[in-house]
Amino acid sequence: MTEKCVIVTGAARGIGLASADLFREEGWKVVIVDRDRGALDEVAAARPDLLALPHDVSDPDQVAAMLRDTLAWAGRLDALVNNAGVAEFGPIRDCDFAMWRRVMATNLDGVFLCSQACTEALAATRGAIVNIASISGLRASTLRVAYGTSKAAVIQLTKQYAAELGEVGVRVNCVAPGPVRTKLAMAVHSQEIIDAYHDAIPLNRYGSERELAEAIVFLASERASYVTGQVLAVDGGFDSTGVGLPALRGRVSDPA
Ligand SMILES: NC(=O)c1ccc[n+]([C@@H]2O[C@H](COP(=O)([O-])OP(=O)(O)OC[C@H]3O[C@@H](n4cnc5c(N)ncnc54)[C@H](O)[C@@H]3O)[C@@H](O)[C@H]2O)c1
Repeated sequence: MTEKCVIVTGAARGIGLASADLFREEGWKVVIVDRDRGALDEVAAARPDLLALPHDVSDPDQVAAMLRDTLAWAGRLDALVNNAGVAEFGPIRDCDFAMWRRVMATNLDGVFLCSQACTEALAATRGAIVNIASISGLRASTLRVAYGTSKAAVIQLTKQYAAELGEVGVRVNCVAPGPVRTKLAMAVHSQEIIDAYHDAIPLNRYGSERELAEAIVFLASERASYVTGQVLAVDGGFDSTGVGLPALRGRVSDPA
């Protein structure tokens, strides 16, 4: 058992909740942060060992309160998982400034604000930050000018922080998930998109929240003590396959 403490943002459901549960299983003290107070209360009621904070990561005052409450509860901070994210998809012509700002406020400003707020506490424990980007930040595609750009920025922000915080012993890494059947994804993935993803992913399926959590907890833990500045795509092979021609599928098992 460890006395280590982790903050996971956006942890009232989906990948964040699966990560919070895996940290708990590994003996961490876990702080979950989410602006959806109803969902957060439900999760916390079933997990009395964790600290649940109803904060919005895009608000500097609420982020300051998040750190204050965490340190008052655990006395230390060893890892920050910047997972809170929103997805709004649509053609570029329909992306007005309000939509752009909504996406950037959580996906990019939130990562910056939480990282800034937590850096000193993480330096005290030589801790780690894990940012959650997306394959949409690694490869451009249609309908996600704000989302994809916010996630590409998170990847660069990971490297900027890793470059500077290495000096104080803080590791900073990034996980880029492929498609996972969470509420966020299902709101923007039609059946047509689901089928197309299956075609383009060598493992031929969506990932699970737990599969993402395994990578996130690994990068936050001592097991990754010499890993920093990295982007780990947990995506069934999507990122590595270039244009991934569906027409070439099936030939692997049919050498003739
Ligand atoms: N599911 C996927 O297919 C997929 C793919 C690539 C990347 N991701 C990324 O993984 C992360 C988690 O996604 P998910 O699929 O589990 O989504 P989800 O919608 O199931 O969970 C996200 C949680 O974040 C919370 N949240 C959103 N904005 C917030 C804010 N400003 N402050 C505090 N909480 C906030 C929501 O209330 C929600 O509980 C996101 O960053 C997302 O972009 C997901």
